[in-house]
Amino acid sequence: MSDHTHHLALEGARPQIRNISLDNIAALAKGAFDNDEIIPLWFGEGDVKTPAFIGDAIYQAIQDGKVFYSHQNGIPEFRGAMADYLTGLNEKPVGPERITVTSGGMPAIMLAIQLTTGEGDNVVIIDPVWPNITGIVQIVGAETRSVAMDLTDDGWALDVDKVAAACDSHTKAIFFASPGNPTGAILPVAVQKQLLELGRKTGIWIISDEVYCRMAFDQNVVPSFLDISEPEDRVLIVNSFSKSWSMTGSRLGWMVHPPSLAATMAMMVQYTSSGTTTYLQYGGIAALRDGEEFVKFMKDYCRTGMEIVCDALDEIPRVILRRRPVAGMYAFFEIDGMTDSKQACLDILASSNVGLAPGHFFGKGSEKFLRLCFCRAPDQLHMAMDRLKAALK
Ligand SMILES: Cc1ncc(COP(=O)(O)O)c(C=O)c1O
Repeated sequence: MSDHTHHLALEGARPQIRNISLDNIAALAKGAFDNDEIIPLWFGEGDVKTPAFIGDAIYQAIQDGKVFYSHQNGIPEFRGAMADYLTGLNEKPVGPERITVTSGGMPAIMLAIQLTTGEGDNVVIIDPVWPNITGIVQIVGAETRSVAMDLTDDGWALDVDKVAAACDSHTKAIFFASPGNPTGAILPVAVQKQLLELGRKTGIWIISDEVYCRMAFDQNVVPSFLDISEPEDRVLIVNSFSKSWSMTGSRLGWMVHPPSLAATMAMMVQYTSSGTTTYLQYGGIAALRDGEEFVKFMKDYCRTGMEIVCDALDEIPRVILRRRPVAGMYAFFEIDGMTDSKQACLDILASSNVGLAPGHFFGKGSEKFLRLCFCRAPDQLHMAMDRLKAALK
């Protein structure tokens, strides 16, 4: 044995990686995965299986021998189907040269950050926000700066002046999700236009996460950055099949980028995943072409879940829910008198077997909040809420 072998291998990891907290929702849920007694409302996924027509298209593609490397941006049929889908959905046409398929929304965000941001740079993140974004920025060695949305009686509101004040010469990107996770908040078009102006004036990239764009309870689709931006604006849109098509385990997503970046994105994909699973892309094509009914079903399923959960929350005196979510799959509510959201989640888990996510993972101002995913069968949600009512007395 050499002198060096007594060093723990972990110490050889980059400090930026070692310093990232391992305390996250998955860690909280560790050990509870196979426990059927627990009603798991902590993750951003429901209990609806991927619809059969998507699975059939994937099986068929395997049987047809679609098992070889994919073009790095995606097979032409996928990019064509996506261009048709987005052109039909949004106000401006989107060409296939602007699409890159990815293995989920997460890798699309990772590519967006790697493309724009490096060591010494910073990314302005609008919170409350899904904590994975912060982790990605830390992995590339950059700093995160958070700008909190304000919770008003009309819901969550973003003051773009605060975003501008948080930016400096090292800011490379502004990240937000609309509808948001955990808030479900939808950025109004006027606010999106202000952000676009800020980006155009400063050269800072806008990364718009539109993963929940088909899950607004009263709209077919929420306003997209695609509606207001030009193809060569510094705008990257990330999206995923995980939520609206119930494909979390498949890992399939996409990015819409400026046309001039197509070859660069292909290069970046080559040096990371070397392409997204070829036969899965056929599932994506089926989802885009034949999935409208299912997308509407998922939205209605979530709306029903939201109503069950919010009706019950309204009956718990300690819960403060100023406005019901208008989109997405989460209730994000405050508990009067709670000071440690993680401990509260552990206590609720121990006493009631309901898995919730602590607010403190979603931003500094969210310590008094808990997040609950309501994309689940009504009987399970009723049971979970009965247990919560007892736990939060
Ligand atoms: C806001 C947001 N963006 C991106 C994702 C990533 O989705 P996936 O990687 O499963 O496609 C999620 C998943 O929870 C999310 O909530």
